[in-house]
Amino acid sequence: MTIIFAHRGASRQCPENTMSAFKRAVELGAGGIEFDIQLSSDDVPVVIHDRTLKRTASGRGTVTETPFSDLRKHDAGSWFSPSFKGELIPSLEEVLIFANQYPNLWLNIELKYYSDTNVKLAEKSIPLIKKHRSEKNTVISSFEHNRLVDVHKLWSKVETAPIYKASLHEPWDYAKNLKAKAIHPQYKTVDRSLTKASQSHGINVRPYTVNDERLIKQLLEWEADGIITDVPDLALKIMKNEHIPQERRSWLKAIWQFIKR
Ligand code: G3P
Ligand code: MG
Repeated sequence: MTIIFAHRGASRQCPENTMSAFKRAVELGAGGIEFDIQLSSDDVPVVIHDRTLKRTASGRGTVTETPFSDLRKHDAGSWFSPSFKGELIPSLEEVLIFANQYPNLWLNIELKYYSDTNVKLAEKSIPLIKKHRSEKNTVISSFEHNRLVDVHKLWSKVETAPIYKASLHEPWDYAKNLKAKAIHPQYKTVDRSLTKASQSHGINVRPYTVNDERLIKQLLEWEADGIITDVPDLALKIMKNEHIPQERRSWLKAIWQFIKR
């Protein structure tokens, strides 16, 4: 079954990568949450996307040059809407503790690297993730594929996934070489045959960031393992109300026409 991942939490309805966004994603019924982590200057893994605070928090400067206690002084909600004033930049541990209430919730934890920052990110975050979660329902992803090899050394049982933008030739072989069990490709590089071939090689496929109704429908039909989306509510609606495989659709149409006669 395709798992719907709320990208940076329910990021259309709440400020991205905040506890409100994660809670909202769960309320909407998302099967998983995706979020980005970096290290504070005193090596605390925190949940924030950009290298700097400018866009999503009230402060200035880079995340990796700011101590955790200072990061927590910033407002991470007002930029989105005044109703989210006082929202904090979460620590990774806070999100892990929250997620523990939902044993079936998938976590896609993306390790964010900006140039030479965050070098100790895997070393500092993997033991923490391991402490709070089993490898079940957890996937660690990154654009920095070499770092996924480090993750595998630290926690061989957890699923890792390279994120990539440009198309790759036979990405299942590339993933296997990294000891990854999944790929998280930009959706434009994905079609049915890539999905099926990857899965037949034991590699899960979770495209990002899929917000278009037609594309969501297609990925559901191709039985992608996950869809990373800013609109989990739309994806779930499509899944519940409209997603009927093509064969069944023709069948239902035939039955309906027969009844109408
Ligand atoms: O993990 C998929 C997606 O989150 C990667 O891009 O920039 O939104 O972290 P970005
Ligand atoms: Mg991300």
